Amino acid sequence: MKFDVAIIGAGAAGMFCAAEAARRGKRVVLIEGSAAPGEKIRISGGGRCNFTNLGIARDCYLSQNPRFALSALKRFTQWDFIARVDAAGIAWHEKTLGQLFCDGSATQIISMLTKDLKDHGVELWLKTQVHDVSQVNDGFSLATSGGAVVAESLVIACGGKSIPKMGASSFGYKIAEQFGLPIVETRPGLVPLTFAEQDLASLKPLAGVAVDGAAATGKTRFKEALLFTHRGLSGPAILQISSYWREGQPISINLTGQSDLAAQLQKMRGEAGRIALRTALKQFLPERLARHIEELSGVTGNLADQSNVTLERVAQLVQDWQMRPVGTEGYRTAEVTLGGVDTDALNSKTMEAKSVSGLYFIGEVVDVTGWLGGYNFQWAWSSGWAAGQAL
Ligand code: FDA
Repeated sequence: MKFDVAIIGAGAAGMFCAAEAARRGKRVVLIEGSAAPGEKIRISGGGRCNFTNLGIARDCYLSQNPRFALSALKRFTQWDFIARVDAAGIAWHEKTLGQLFCDGSATQIISMLTKDLKDHGVELWLKTQVHDVSQVNDGFSLATSGGAVVAESLVIACGGKSIPKMGASSFGYKIAEQFGLPIVETRPGLVPLTFAEQDLASLKPLAGVAVDGAAATGKTRFKEALLFTHRGLSGPAILQISSYWREGQPISINLTGQSDLAAQLQKMRGEAGRIALRTALKQFLPERLARHIEELSGVTGNLADQSNVTLERVAQLVQDWQMRPVGTEGYRTAEVTLGGVDTDALNSKTMEAKSVSGLYFIGEVVDVTGWLGGYNFQWAWSSGWAAGQAL
């Protein structure tokens, strides 16, 4: 069958792009391997889809060229997407840090997108595998389990490698390589960090303990919640820092989010020093963590018995606990894939490959990865929109 545009992948980027191209009169086929479109949208944001963020900015994206994403993000902004959500009658709220969630369910976003596809006549082929892609005179030829497709333009919206059991594959990267486009090395991002068995032995009793703290590596720091797990650390601050962390590096954990704990412990020592250190720490930390820090510090006796130097050392443990993760939980649980199609090979206004006319890459398959908090969906909408205007 012949189309103007073939899009592989009916995720956030592919669906948004398909509707935009069809709105402009293009005959579009949207090919999806899974049985339903937008499966990651469905599970996102704990089922409520954190669909964008009020604070979209260059610094919230990781890429070899962080400026690349700006063009699309500025031309189709968070406000543009919010206007679409409002027009669809979907109620939403800001949860924290500019993160916007549906009041009801993530399926509302999927319904909004599939309605757009239907209204504009996009052909959605589900449960369809693309076996092979080749360039032909008038565009691209696709061998699919649903039959042969010829299209003038081809958009790769296959997403990244995270959550393979939901249909994630390396297909998008393979197509890029087939057409000679460079790939920035991929790795899991927004993912829990794991520790070596010997470290876990002492950390395991803390599994389930959560604190409002901060995590840092190098000069990057996130002040959000942290969670101790059976395998290591998770929670928003850890997921965020995982995208910046590299194997072999330490991370610094602040368990309280405060910076003047030593002064506060000294004050408590002066006012009511006849208490154990763990009792004092319980004012700032959950009990299990207070006990753990007391053990780690090797301090015995009452608060009144401790010198300023000792209290400063304890405060440092709480506020700058140097930990050495050995790895991450990998693509099995990662929310995103860092790296991807090198942005140098793409036109930032249209997402078209500079060296292959008619071939476009959008969404997560591109080397643009956002922070946790709606940034990745905004990239999917913006890059999908940008390609949609150019097709
Ligand atoms: P996406 O992965 O959505 O879609 C790609 C599609 O291509 C899939 O449907 C796949 O089946 C299909 N496909 C792949 N290969 C194919 C082939 N060979 N043939 C046919 N089809 C093929 N982000 C955010 O901003 N806010 C949030 O709340 C969350 N929450 C969240 C939770 C969880 C658990 C995860 C795993 C991820 C998030 N994210 C998120 C990240 C967000 O889901 C992600 O960045 C976007 O879905 C990326 O959109 P894409 O359309 O690029 O890929």
